[in-house]
Amino acid sequence: MEAVRRRSLAYTDVDEDELVRQHSPLMSPLVWDLAHIGNYEDLWLVRALGQAAATRPGLDGVYDAFRHDRASRARLSLLGPEGSRAYLREVRARAFELLDHLDPALAHGGDDTRARLLTGGFVYGMVIQHEHQHDETMLATHQLRIGAALLAAGLPAPPGRPVARREVLVPAGPFTFGTSDDPWAYDNERPAHRVDLPAFWIDTLPVSNRAQLAFLEAGGYDDERLWSSAGWDWRQREGLTAPAFWWRDGDTWLRRRLGHVEPVPLDEPVQHVCWYEAEAHARWAGRRLPTEAEWEKAAAHDPATGRSHRYPWGDTAPTPDRANLGHRTSGPAPLGAYPAGASPCGAEQMIGDVWEWTASGFTPHPGFRSHPYREYSEVFFPKDGESSAFRVLRGGSWATGAPACRATFRNWDYPIRRQIFAGFRLARDAD
Ligand SMILES: [Fe+2]
Repeated sequence: MEAVRRRSLAYTDVDEDELVRQHSPLMSPLVWDLAHIGNYEDLWLVRALGQAAATRPGLDGVYDAFRHDRASRARLSLLGPEGSRAYLREVRARAFELLDHLDPALAHGGDDTRARLLTGGFVYGMVIQHEHQHDETMLATHQLRIGAALLAAGLPAPPGRPVARREVLVPAGPFTFGTSDDPWAYDNERPAHRVDLPAFWIDTLPVSNRAQLAFLEAGGYDDERLWSSAGWDWRQREGLTAPAFWWRDGDTWLRRRLGHVEPVPLDEPVQHVCWYEAEAHARWAGRRLPTEAEWEKAAAHDPATGRSHRYPWGDTAPTPDRANLGHRTSGPAPLGAYPAGASPCGAEQMIGDVWEWTASGFTPHPGFRSHPYREYSEVFFPKDGESSAFRVLRGGSWATGAPACRATFRNWDYPIRRQIFAGFRLARDAD
């Protein structure tokens, strides 16, 4: 909890004007995210678990993400920067005080809500992950912001390397999709169930900036035949001609990254592309996006044991030689930088670097039960007979906190979104 708090405070250790300003209609003012993190901790650790009164009554309405869309949050009567930091400190002190006096017998209270919240430390994991998720959102706000860099540069990424095989075969057969026993897994990752997939090929690495440039130079952004009709409508309406934050200067493609301008590095995974761009690129390449089940099988299934692991390399926590997570670096690492992070089938960089768009909509696993609140996942599932408005992203990005990343973790967003740290990987049928 203290580690993720240092991260939240670092992203908001900027001038007051930068914190209260609406940098983009897509994002909240940074100061909203900051106090919302404290409000969520108050809701779950102080009130639901501790059964104590609200730390500051009257704030729930302002910091309820469902009550106000992001574009309207700057107009709410928000706590100011110092007030937000003080609120976070007050909530944290009460949460720790309650933890010190928590009766361990509560965890064995049968079907009591508090017992469920405490199983495996779930509610603490939920609060930590929520804060990391907002930190990644705040980083996207920093990315959208215009002006010189405000955040310290990250560490250099490890060097890339050429990989021998462009794609790897995942043989036909069943695998365990989702999880029932990961203590910190969200409701939408549960329960574990067997899924039988036909054989498929999946790329060893995510699609590179070099490949996206080849698509662009081949006229991919202007060839309607490569786009779905919804994708083409969006491409026309928004005038999409390259990934977000890219522009051409003479013969050189440049990009803006957290306030820095630099030539586009060709051997990095492409990021800031929407699902429609990924779909068009895949069609141009004569391939397709993997389904969500294919992605998870390629990342987690170990044919030697028949089990799915928590990460591609096994069940041990991520280390800097296996995955690019937690904003150690300030962007994706070059392709081939993490041979030690390979999955059993040989796919690399599935965890970290860039979120990967999949072909799949966001739907419940069979046997889904909402826990601990409907608004985390259930309200985003399609209603009967409708198809999902969202596309699932997998694997986390360089900006994702390690506690909020594992092979079963499901993220979802609209197919038009480009400010998130998302790229994609290609697949194809085996026959
Ligand atoms: Fe939230």
